[in-house]
Amino acid sequence: MTRENWTSSIGFILASAGSAIGLGNIWKFPYMAGENGGGTFVLVYVLCVAFIGLPVMCAEMLIGRHTRRNIINAMGKVERLSGSVGARFVLSTLSAGMAVAFATMEAWLPVALALAGVFLFAKKGFSVLGWVCTVVALAILSYYAVIGGWIVEYIRLALTGTLVPEAAGGVAAVEVAKTSQTAFAAYVASPWRVLWGFGVFMAVTGAMLLGGIRAGIERMSKILMPLLFVLLLVVIARSVTLPGAGEGIAFLLRPTLDAFTPKVVLMALGQVFFSLSLGMAITVTYGSYLHKEHNILRAAGWVGVLDTCAALLAGLAIFPAVFAVGLSPSAGPGLIFGALPAVFDTMWWGPFWAACFFFMLFIAAVTSSVALLECGATVFIERLRRGHKRGSRRTAVLIGFALCTLMGLLSVFSTADWGHLPWLGRAAEACMGDLYRGNWLDTLDNFASNWCLPFTALSTALLVGWAWTPRRAAPELLAAGEDWRALPALWGFLVRWVSPVGILLVFLYVSGFLGL
Ligand code: PFF
Repeated sequence: MTRENWTSSIGFILASAGSAIGLGNIWKFPYMAGENGGGTFVLVYVLCVAFIGLPVMCAEMLIGRHTRRNIINAMGKVERLSGSVGARFVLSTLSAGMAVAFATMEAWLPVALALAGVFLFAKKGFSVLGWVCTVVALAILSYYAVIGGWIVEYIRLALTGTLVPEAAGGVAAVEVAKTSQTAFAAYVASPWRVLWGFGVFMAVTGAMLLGGIRAGIERMSKILMPLLFVLLLVVIARSVTLPGAGEGIAFLLRPTLDAFTPKVVLMALGQVFFSLSLGMAITVTYGSYLHKEHNILRAAGWVGVLDTCAALLAGLAIFPAVFAVGLSPSAGPGLIFGALPAVFDTMWWGPFWAACFFFMLFIAAVTSSVALLECGATVFIERLRRGHKRGSRRTAVLIGFALCTLMGLLSVFSTADWGHLPWLGRAAEACMGDLYRGNWLDTLDNFASNWCLPFTALSTALLVGWAWTPRRAAPELLAAGEDWRALPALWGFLVRWVSPVGILLVFLYVSGFLGL
């Protein structure tokens, strides 16, 4: 079977950056930083990107390119090729450890999943990990698309000039921000209003994927990613010149020791994987479309730098404004929807810039959601194709689309409270223990991002670092004929020691097995 390929290194880097830069950077990073100590979070985040995220990213790209398969076959193949019989037992043991950690948090559903993992990993090995990555990607897409839907609605509000509620016209930015925050809370509490945006967002994602790799994702990313950075700079220019903005900049950039806790590290770590699109099959999948003549270290470095710059720029766009208009930095998922309308309100041609900004956010979100759906689609395509000659991209995309839409409805109907889905609320409270957050979206996000992603990333690092081994894998990081001495060796050390030990320590601290 012939597989599609990226046409150039730049195309691969931009498409990977397109998948990495998304709501994670512009919506999630600022509110996570706001809730977890500002500058401290940012510092821990950057360190985690460099020493844990990037090595794992290279490992995932390598697995993809070496095997040129979907994640499930790829993981299985690397395990077989490494010839290690112990690898799957290490994986089962890890899963057992997760079960114990979840039990201490009374999170019974995760306990059951981890116990199922113990048996499945022992029996079938790393291909089951591939399934886990795929399911996590689809679960993340289910709520990612809900946020995407909010963005669609905000574009509509900006275009119709109703982003800032009528009554607020001409009043101080502080008042505008308060009104916007209330309007946002009222909006998410009316699922029928959220539904259409969610539908539009899912439909655009599905349609993009039907176009295939080159025609859809690559071409779109090449044009739209640069535009995204330009628009961010425009918003920053306004935000940092608001009176009182300096405090926000200091909050974002000045770490303080007393804000440093194990929880901050876990949150930063989960955010690194979420933001770099790791542990979710996507980097393996994109790597599998990569030709041998491209240099993986360079590509991963670029993606990491672009993604981190986008997150920091988003922070610079949002925090000065948050402080200038007197909002709380720990306002949670609604942070940008409360703060930004107030910024745009102070701008000449405000509605125009607002529409541009939310359109940019929409682009960032779609390039990412396309990637998330692609993870599932590739798996379904290559599984459904067995024995058939004809491709079945359409069926594969439809299956992924239907699953995510159904799951996404749970988030749509329970963002503000459990009023519409009381049974789900009771079930979530009973099954998720300490992982429970006041609504389905946050609960699922907390479980998927902060626990599943570090787990899948840790397992991948162990597979490549200890079973496949850097000695065999590292030469493939470079393009044919290149000879870089130090960097592949450094990568080997990081993926073997620093990433796995770092992730394990964080798990142990957070679940209370190691006191700080
Ligand atoms: N990295 C994306 C973001 O930061 O918004 C989210 C994401 C997209 C994760 C695609 C995984 C993925 F496959």
